[in-house]
Amino acid sequence: MIDWHHLQSEIPPADPLLPWLTALRESGQCDLDPVRFGDLPRWMNAIDTLPAVSPGTVDYCRDAPRVELTADPDALARIESCLAALHPWRKGPFDVSGIHIDAEWRSDYKWSRLRDTVSPLAGRRVLDVGCGNGYFCFRLLGEGARLALGIDPSPLFNVQFALLKRLYGASPAHLLPVPDTALSTCPASFDTVMSMGVLYHRKSPFDHLALLHRCLRPGGELLLETLVVDGDKNTVLVPQARYARMRNVWFLPSTLAMEHWLRRAGFTQVRCVDESLTTASEQRTTDWMRFESHDQALDPSDQTLTIEGLPAPRRAAFLAERPC
Ligand SMILES: C[S@@+](CC[C@H](N)C(=O)[O-])C[C@H]1O[C@@H](n2cnc3c(N)ncnc32)[C@H](O)[C@@H]1O
Repeated sequence: MIDWHHLQSEIPPADPLLPWLTALRESGQCDLDPVRFGDLPRWMNAIDTLPAVSPGTVDYCRDAPRVELTADPDALARIESCLAALHPWRKGPFDVSGIHIDAEWRSDYKWSRLRDTVSPLAGRRVLDVGCGNGYFCFRLLGEGARLALGIDPSPLFNVQFALLKRLYGASPAHLLPVPDTALSTCPASFDTVMSMGVLYHRKSPFDHLALLHRCLRPGGELLLETLVVDGDKNTVLVPQARYARMRNVWFLPSTLAMEHWLRRAGFTQVRCVDESLTTASEQRTTDWMRFESHDQALDPSDQTLTIEGLPAPRRAAFLAERPC
């Protein structure tokens, strides 16, 4: 599923990233286990039964990255059912020769808020930690990134990415099915590291920040996005149990607290570049994600609160640098 040959051939021979990738490959950490993930054979079948098509024009700059395929209507219908077999699509949209993958999240909203805040991405090596199905990796290609490497432990998101790669064709975007902890041996070699929507899922924020810090080259840039609440430098909300129906949200710092944490973790030039309330047009149930979504996570009588009575989801994005 992973195009190791292509990925490794994109790294110069003496580059310290190469031994890290080789060790990851040889350790077997990237081999998904069909016993542990029972749906894996069904998902892989979607890739295996994809009709043979030749990718045509690709446009990664669009809100829905687009590929034009040379395929007849029957082949396109079979491609659509392969894509649909990978439900739920959380991140998108994508446009596969007119098949519009209307994912739960309009990830393009986030990208249009943040794209112009980061240093120009052309020619940069970018790591996207917790990248989901790689939507932003494709958008990074649209910005001219030299390498867009995503990591995400979710097997489904990795299969979605692998299927998209088959359709969009070879590119310097790659995804590895590993968690952030696999970065504990990663060399300081990325120009930009992104972590969006991941920090609050980790029990230890400082361990996550330390991993992001170590992967950046000196002078490299971090883009971190997370859920926040109102408050001062010492405000952190720790949900009693669920937050917006999610079981795995451990803490929501204030914007000031998050800036403080980033500095404490060794970053400089820390600044908040965006704050926005999540809306029902950015996150919603669609044909490609038929489960409950944002609307059902809010208090029906007060949309400023979650169903648990906590502040409704608000996200902030921060830029910071690893000092030289
Ligand atoms: C809310 S989604 C955010 C996806 C994407 N970055 C975005 O901003 O839309 C959180 C992602 O973090 C991933 N994740 C969970 N635990 C992780 C870990 N330990 N290391 C890396 N990613 C993780 C999940 O699989 C999921 O894709």
